[in-house]
Parts: sequence; structure tokens; C-alpha cells
Amino acid sequence: MKHYITVNDIDSYKEWIDLAGELKKDPLKFKEIGEGKTIGLLFFNNSLRTRLSTQKAAYHLGMHCMIMNFSNEGWALEFEDGTIMDQGKAEHIREAAEVVSQYCDVLGIRAFASLTNKEEDEAEMVLNGFKKYATIPILNMESAKGHPLQALADLLTIEENTSEKKPKVVLSWAPHPKALPHAVANSFVEIMRQNSHIDFSITHPKGYELSPEVTKDVPIEYDQDKALKEADFVYVKNWSSYSSYGKVLSTDPKWMITMKKLGKAQFMHCLPVRRNVVVEDAVLNSKQSLVMEQANNRTYAAQVALLKILKGS
Ligand code: CP
Repeated sequence: MKHYITVNDIDSYKEWIDLAGELKKDPLKFKEIGEGKTIGLLFFNNSLRTRLSTQKAAYHLGMHCMIMNFSNEGWALEFEDGTIMDQGKAEHIREAAEVVSQYCDVLGIRAFASLTNKEEDEAEMVLNGFKKYATIPILNMESAKGHPLQALADLLTIEENTSEKKPKVVLSWAPHPKALPHAVANSFVEIMRQNSHIDFSITHPKGYELSPEVTKDVPIEYDQDKALKEADFVYVKNWSSYSSYGKVLSTDPKWMITMKKLGKAQFMHCLPVRRNVVVEDAVLNSKQSLVMEQANNRTYAAQVALLKILKGS
């Protein structure tokens, strides 16, 4: 495998999930494979889990890790070709990507959606800029459109916590004061859609439909209570409107997840989460919450993706 950009880069879910389970039991099993190799992690946005779990995954594989908070510490990048660079941008993506490729063997990129320009976000300017001009494999650590490391960790968490043949999983929108990107929801929908042994549906207020290219034929139920009935897993996430791009159309607190709404289901969220806005304390503090397991599984999701990259490069 050359890159891990979307969940479509996973060639066999069974193999990847089994391998993640194996690595969880014996994290240092492949500690020689990355010896003498370096991973560079470039962050254009904040992070806690992605930064530390990817670093830990790299260490488990024997790699060295270099991290840069690019938006504070790097030169402002120009992505257009042929631009006269006499304004604020000091470095072109062509040079930046090629330079980093000389120092690293794998490159992780985190670059969120701007939520102000749909076309630019859809074009994944930063991620695809590095992919185009770097000469090394790229690991997507959350881009404008997707968060495939999170989705893989989420699938692993569901597989580990169900004994049902066809577990019912519901993705529920929840309120949030700020406009948030669609990346986590997109990748979760994609990975659920591609695992047909999961009974998957989405619930959100009208106006919060995700891209139809992502949701395709996934059932959407606008009545949250109806959607959550008999769910085994409730995955909660806020996202801004896709059709009214980047807008907050509702902050209706009735969509916040409570113990009453959750019922017997297990609760999932990628974190960070705003307590008593997205989900009430009682849910997060209960044994039905899987958020710590999801965060822990981020290490093994990253380790599988890196292992596949190292074996394929
Ligand atoms: N879930 C997740 O990606 O967390 P961070 O934004 O803290 O990395």
C-alpha cells in the first residue's frame, strides 16, 4: 500500500481488524520493520489523540518520529501554480513536499476543512498537494473530507464490543456551538457502509444531510427517538450543514444524547467532546461509554496503517 488516504485504501477489513487485534496483544511484534525509518507528522490543526497515538504507533514499529505544528511553525504555503509570490506566502508546496520527502520515509498530514470554501475543501488542497509533490507515502491524520484512522479505530471498537451477528449502529448528529467539519462522520459512514454485516442508519435534523456521495443508500431517519430504538451502538457527532456549507442551522438541545435516549446501547464519540452539550455527563461517566476504548484503539489503527505502508514501500 502506497498511501492511507481514505478507508477505501483498506483492502481487507477482516485482515486489518485481525491484525489490529494481534498488535493490541503484542504491540512490539514488528518492532524491527521501521528501524532506521522516520515518520514526519505535520499538523495544520490541533490534536491530542491523533498526535500521540500515531507517534506511539510509529514507536511500536521502531520508527523515529518528527512532529511539526505547521500552521504556527512552518512557512505559509502557496498551493497555486504560476502564482507571483509577492504576498504573504513564503514557500510553495512543490519545494516543501520535496524537502520533507528527503528527511522522512512516511508523512502524516492533518489539515481540516476551512468550511468557508466547499470547492477548495472538496479538492483536499493540502493533503493532495503533499500527495502530488511528496515522493513518500502519505498518512491521512484527518483531512477536509475524511478521518480514516478514526474510522478504523471505531470499527475495531464495534467488533470488539458486540456479540451480535448484525449489530444495529446509529450515527446521530448532536448540537454544538461551533461549525464542525464533516470528516469524522464521512469516514464513519463509509466504513459502516462497506461492512454489510452492520445494520447502519443515520439520524439528524433536516438540513444536516451529509454529501450524498458519502451516504449513498444509507437510511436517514429525521426522528431521533425512532432512529435510536433498539440500537446496539449510538455514535454521536456534530457536523455543520453540507448543503448550506459550513453553517450551524440548529443548536437544539433536544438532540443531546442522554441516558434515556441511549437506552441499552453503547455510546461512541471520537473525542474531544463538549459535556452536557453533545452528551450528558451521565452517559460519558457510565459503563456504556466506549470513548476510552475508541481512543486506545487509535494507536492500533495507526499501527496497522503504518505497517501496511512500510510493508508496501
Ligand atoms: N479524535 C481525534 O482525532 O482526536 P484529536 O483531534 O485530539 O486528534
